Amino acid sequence: MFLRNLWYFAAPGESVRPGSMRHKTLLGEPILIGRTHQGEVFAIRDVCPHRGMLLSAGKLLKSHNGQASEVECPYHGWRYRTDGACSHIPSLVDGQEFELERIRVRCYPCREQQHNIWVYMPADERVIEQPSEDPPVIPEIGDRRPAFRESEVFHCEIDHAIVGLMDPAHGPFVHGIWWWRPKFSIHEKEKAFSPSHLGFTMRAHEPSRNSFLYRILGRDVSTEIRFQLPGVRIEHVRAARASVIGLTTVVAIDDTKTEVTQTFYWTQPLFNIVKPIFRPMARAFLRQDRDIVDLQQKALPHMKKQILIDDADTPAKWYYRLKENWTTSVDTGEPFVNPVTDAVLRWRS
Ligand code: FES
Ligand SMILES: [Fe+2]
Repeated sequence: MFLRNLWYFAAPGESVRPGSMRHKTLLGEPILIGRTHQGEVFAIRDVCPHRGMLLSAGKLLKSHNGQASEVECPYHGWRYRTDGACSHIPSLVDGQEFELERIRVRCYPCREQQHNIWVYMPADERVIEQPSEDPPVIPEIGDRRPAFRESEVFHCEIDHAIVGLMDPAHGPFVHGIWWWRPKFSIHEKEKAFSPSHLGFTMRAHEPSRNSFLYRILGRDVSTEIRFQLPGVRIEHVRAARASVIGLTTVVAIDDTKTEVTQTFYWTQPLFNIVKPIFRPMARAFLRQDRDIVDLQQKALPHMKKQILIDDADTPAKWYYRLKENWTTSVDTGEPFVNPVTDAVLRWRS
């Protein structure tokens, strides 16, 4: 099942212009993500409760005379405020009084932060004004715009997409391209991990000498990778001249499709020169991850249980335990217990 009471990456900020709306399926739920003409983002269930219709196919009406912005259904013109309350039914005549406020479309907490739109997916139908958590903050970049983004739909359920991205042993086999890491360069690695908010962090270390990409960043390169539930990975590469930060978000569209989006930021505008090289590389990488996981779907229905080995699959084991503990905490109301402890993992890749 999908994890609840967490923020999910819903859309790039730039993909929702003022006065526009878009449809998105998150965790199997149809969601309208909109931005008022004043620039505020909001998220409501993308189903008109009258007779069922995608509200995102309707119009977003400008606020006027102190009236808030409204979403107008394309079928019979019922209108909803951005908090989901019904505000107008055009077919009503005088005397047909109706308590409009009793009709509501579910409203989701929605926040725009660092050019990313996050939607909070609550565990139940109750209206949540202020979630206890905040969406993840990307370090060092402040309000800088992303350098670029790449997004792919993996045809699998979310766990395989996440585990496939965090697993260190697939690199030389799936991404073994000459300019990255040829297979013959496989060698032993040792990395220190610590528990961190809703997940774990591969502590700052000097990246493998065999990865060409890191070399172009100059001297004193260190990289730190943080993972947190539900599927957020932040890779922070610091170098003498600048930093590059990669945000990977893995979001379940439903139980057979998962969207993986990689957003890259850098603190040095000069790096834009290498974008025409870097971007196709990032895209190729993401597609390789997608293709291997898509292929895996043909075998998975024929096996009962995965074999996860130490230490290469330890992050995967942590992921499953984090999920379990989060689910228990949502179900019982008890505080979440992070199952990860400080560890040094060793593997060859
Ligand atoms: S279905 Fe939306 S107004 Fe009728
Ligand atoms: Fe990969």
